[in-house]
Amino acid sequence: MNILLTGGAGFIGRWVAKRLIEDGHKLWILDDLSNGSQANIEEFTDHPNLQQFIFGDIKDEALLEKLFQLTKFDICYHLGASINVQDSIDDPRTTFNNDAVGTFFIMEQCRKHQVKVVFMSTCMVYDRCTDETGITEEHPTKPASPYAGAKIAAENMVLSYFYAYGLPVVVIRPFNTYGPHQKTGGEGGVVAVFIKNKLTGNDVSIYGDGTQTRDLLFVEDCARFVVEAGYSNKVDGHIVNAGLGRDVTINELAQIIVGDESRIKHVEHIHPQSEIPKLLCNSSKAKSLLGWDPRVSLEEGIKRTESWIQTSYLL
Ligand SMILES: NC(=O)c1ccc[n+]([C@@H]2O[C@H](COP(=O)([O-])OP(=O)(O)OC[C@H]3O[C@@H](n4cnc5c(N)ncnc54)[C@H](O)[C@@H]3O)[C@@H](O)[C@H]2O)c1
Repeated sequence: MNILLTGGAGFIGRWVAKRLIEDGHKLWILDDLSNGSQANIEEFTDHPNLQQFIFGDIKDEALLEKLFQLTKFDICYHLGASINVQDSIDDPRTTFNNDAVGTFFIMEQCRKHQVKVVFMSTCMVYDRCTDETGITEEHPTKPASPYAGAKIAAENMVLSYFYAYGLPVVVIRPFNTYGPHQKTGGEGGVVAVFIKNKLTGNDVSIYGDGTQTRDLLFVEDCARFVVEAGYSNKVDGHIVNAGLGRDVTINELAQIIVGDESRIKHVEHIHPQSEIPKLLCNSSKAKSLLGWDPRVSLEEGIKRTESWIQTSYLL
């Protein structure tokens, strides 16, 4: 197939690109490199299936118009977005423009050219989990941050194209994802930041009391889920979750990664009002519609992430 991947130079996008290329598709990657990097996709630049890397913005309608005219795409995997909760609180306009308005521009092209859309939403749209069966797709949403608000707005627009135009679309909500190629600085994911601090001999800082939980999904499991959602028409018109099905408190996570209690510090939360106290995924819909199951345990995923950080950053 001819496939367009937005945000393909980012952390998860890089792994989605890898799968799509390995599966034999022709791939076009569109990314403005606002948070991604060409180093993430360097490995594929000479691969014959990578047709083109387009350095550009999903908000550039003229660019999209040209791109969709030049190639008849079969699927658009739309991952390009502003992803940081705190940034969305500081500057909601940028997040809304990228995540909601940018998604609308992508939808318009996909409608005109009849292209299936896989829209990458997030577990951050959910209200807190209240039991141990986990969050299903029927669980209430809550726009606790402008990031979540923009994603919910975009999800609704994406689904409206299914109802109003019969366009094949799927909204996917992966839970917090970690693994090789995630940024390890302050703006990175919690697993990457904790591992980097452990390896550099720095203390690990936990926002608030650390009792908030996360369901952590290894990036290769996440990418397999994203890719499969595009291949199957059983999920068209649906919202589908993916997660590990196990949640850990941030305190437990710090223990698993760092061990040494004296190196774990608690600091004041930067956005307690937008924190989600418990996130635990119920992926039974992904299992029944896509046959998808996570394969990498938290301990194994942390081990693989740690050895990548060690070789990429520290040697
Ligand atoms: N990391 C997670 O835990 C997680 C979990 C669930 C969903 N998601 C979603 O998955 C997607 C990818 O997230 P990620 O963690 O890989 O983040 P990322 O920042 O590494 O990837 C996003 C990519 O989109 C690009 N981008 C941003 N705005 C753009 C624009 N206007 N035009 C073109 N490209 C643009 C960035 O440069 C970056 O390469 C996002 O949609 C995010 O909301 C992430």
